[in-house]
Amino acid sequence: MHALIVVSHPHPGSLTHTIARSFAEGVATSGGHTAEIADLAAEGFQPAFNQADRAAYLLQNPLPSDVVREQERIDRADALVLVYPIYWWSFPGQLKGWIDRVFSNGWAYDEAPDGTLKKRLARLAVHLIGIGGAESGTYARHGYDQALRTQIDHGIFDFCGARVVTSEFLLGASTQSAAGHIATARILGTQAFAREAAAASA
Ligand SMILES: Cc1cc2nc3c(=O)[nH]c(=O)nc-3n(C[C@H](O)[C@H](O)[C@H](O)COP(=O)(O)O)c2cc1C
Repeated sequence: MHALIVVSHPHPGSLTHTIARSFAEGVATSGGHTAEIADLAAEGFQPAFNQADRAAYLLQNPLPSDVVREQERIDRADALVLVYPIYWWSFPGQLKGWIDRVFSNGWAYDEAPDGTLKKRLARLAVHLIGIGGAESGTYARHGYDQALRTQIDHGIFDFCGARVVTSEFLLGASTQSAAGHIATARILGTQAFAREAAAASA
């Protein structure tokens, strides 16, 4: 099994990137599985939804080639892992734009002229790791964690039929030792394909 780990953070030395690498190491030590990291910032992915994207959304034109490349690497993976810093209680803009452009009509879902919807990503397992500077109590008090899950897990991935396997927030990143979060990410990586392994041996 193969995991595509998408990271959205400008600095390769950040905690976010370290956590992504730790998750990848966990996958690689879990018995023949592989992982690759897609660094959207280093690759210079252009996140702004543009006229060509809109024409493709309306099924008037083919998708732009950079979007097709992203879809192809998701198609090659069994699991999609998003590792991102929480900015203003949400995704970073670049990752949101990546979703806007890549999860297109006709690939992530089909919208029929009568408005009925067909989910197209049922084969995809999804792992979500959001990293935040604030403490978990702040998230609970304001409902930020629930808001993120509603928006991302349900609003994006359930909408397309993808299966959210992991949905974790690693919080207090500015005050607590990063070591615990890095270790947690490695464990999550080792467990990423646990369900598939159990099904194969059953
Ligand atoms: C623009 C910006 C907005 C941020 N907004 C939040 C936020 O809403 N909630 C939060 O918990 N942390 C917030 N943070 C803190 C980051 O989530 C935190 O710095 C990051 O996840 C962990 O460190 P890293 O940048 O080294 O990966 C924000 C940081 C920046 C730069």
